[in-house]
Amino acid sequence: MKPFYITTAIDYANSAPHLGHAYEKVLTDVIARFRRQMGDQVHFLTGTDEHGQKVQASARKQGVAPQDWVAGVSAQFQALLPRLNVSNDDFIRTTEERHKRIVRQILQKLYDQGDIYLDTYKGYYSARQEQFLQEKDRNPDGSWPEIFGEVTEITESNYFFRLKQHQPWLIELLTANEKFIFPAFRRNQVLEFLKEPLNDLCISRPKERLEWGIPLPFDEKYVTYVWFDALVNYYSAVVDRPGTWPATWHVIGKDILVPPHAVYWPIMLRAIGLPLPQGLLVHGWWAIKGAKMSKSTGNIVDPLALVEEFGADALRYFLIREMNVGQDSDFTREQFLVRYNSELANNLGNLVNRTLNMTTRFAGGAVPAAADLQDLDRELRALWYKTRDEFIPLCEGFQFHTALERAMFFLTETNAYIEKRAPWKLGKSAESADQALLRTTLATMAEALRLAVTLIRHVTPASTDRILGVLGYTPGATWRDELAWGAKLTGAKVAESLVLFPRPAPPAGEAKPAKK
Ligand code: MSP
Repeated sequence: MKPFYITTAIDYANSAPHLGHAYEKVLTDVIARFRRQMGDQVHFLTGTDEHGQKVQASARKQGVAPQDWVAGVSAQFQALLPRLNVSNDDFIRTTEERHKRIVRQILQKLYDQGDIYLDTYKGYYSARQEQFLQEKDRNPDGSWPEIFGEVTEITESNYFFRLKQHQPWLIELLTANEKFIFPAFRRNQVLEFLKEPLNDLCISRPKERLEWGIPLPFDEKYVTYVWFDALVNYYSAVVDRPGTWPATWHVIGKDILVPPHAVYWPIMLRAIGLPLPQGLLVHGWWAIKGAKMSKSTGNIVDPLALVEEFGADALRYFLIREMNVGQDSDFTREQFLVRYNSELANNLGNLVNRTLNMTTRFAGGAVPAAADLQDLDRELRALWYKTRDEFIPLCEGFQFHTALERAMFFLTETNAYIEKRAPWKLGKSAESADQALLRTTLATMAEALRLAVTLIRHVTPASTDRILGVLGYTPGATWRDELAWGAKLTGAKVAESLVLFPRPAPPAGEAKPAKK
């Protein structure tokens, strides 16, 4: 079976990770875990992008050697992954030998083929973006847009990769293949960009201007342009894993679709003679009051602080529930707390507590077998099957936020079922019909809980496992089989309680509400 090979963008090793970086890892992890559950053999890669001007500048600013600087920042990115319960199979650093070797091999091949040539460049250059600029990049008033930082005029000899000649092929590819870019509207953006003629891509930087990079194998006076180096990571990480390439999905943010992933990368692969990935999955930005969260603006949220305070699953749940993949979302603590309290603590947490508590009180801590089903029980089962059957295709189509909404609705209805049945009243009755109904209710609650948490396991892996654990249940190997309503919990010994999503402490200095 061809592995389902999924990658994230590799993060610049120039500053600590923020919530935007964490989101991309979590989103990719949710897809990876979902595909594993669906039976795919998954290979999940992430990593750090460690060469180039930005990284060299950050290291200089700190007064450290670039290799020491990137080692420290990369370690921070690596340390974040287990804290977020991210299940990556590999982590690549572009300063590793396994990567540099392949970049140099590819450069040599393209040079030998005549796809790379030396030419003189005269024009404008943005050091911040590491990009050569053209007249069309100017603002209407002639100035350069803010994002380019200081723009200087330079004349220098450089190596160029023949990009231009592949433009008609790329347009045809994107036109024919509607599924290459998700969401679909982003493809139009690329096609729009391709209406202008492409220039060949300058892939070298003279060492006197930039030292921190991979030297060109055919001219050591130059290092490789960072994007040409970075994109190759997706391939260099799997050269020793035959059959893994091509990637199934590259998960990236919208800022790095055009031109790197949608133009440079497909053309590079074509020139090298490698197959293209199945697709590019393009997510939007986390913003604060409408402005993209980024280190340079300083408006960042620390994902580790949220994990410390609420746990990894609460953060994962929020990120996936809140953002419609492909769109932007504003992050506010208020909205985080609304979802945390109403969906995790009240809805899911409440069902867990009620199930454990009532099974302990009314059934000696062992889940009873259901007796005769009534309409209410049948309705909840029907809702379960509807939820499950909608949930899976939604996840297949990356509509995780809607999928979670459906799962939450099922939990809400399960809690409503409990209210209607009022097992606390049935437990006080000595009537045998009431006792039978109580057994059915307890069995139904426990089973509904088992199913719901199994369904969302790829989003909340640790919480799901803890809940299944306190239900005295070890799931079987096949996820889909676990999603059938059954009597799997009959006789299971449950724990008395579980604190899962505790109420957050009020902010320091805020008075506690007076007790009534
Ligand atoms: N190093 C390049 C990617 C090379 S891939 C071969 C890069 N690095 S980055 O650190 O700037 O961004 C890494 C990823 O994080 C990108 O996909 C980017 O879109 C994403 N995000 C950075 N800030 C973000 C938000 N505020 N919100 C969501 N994701 C954003 O680009």
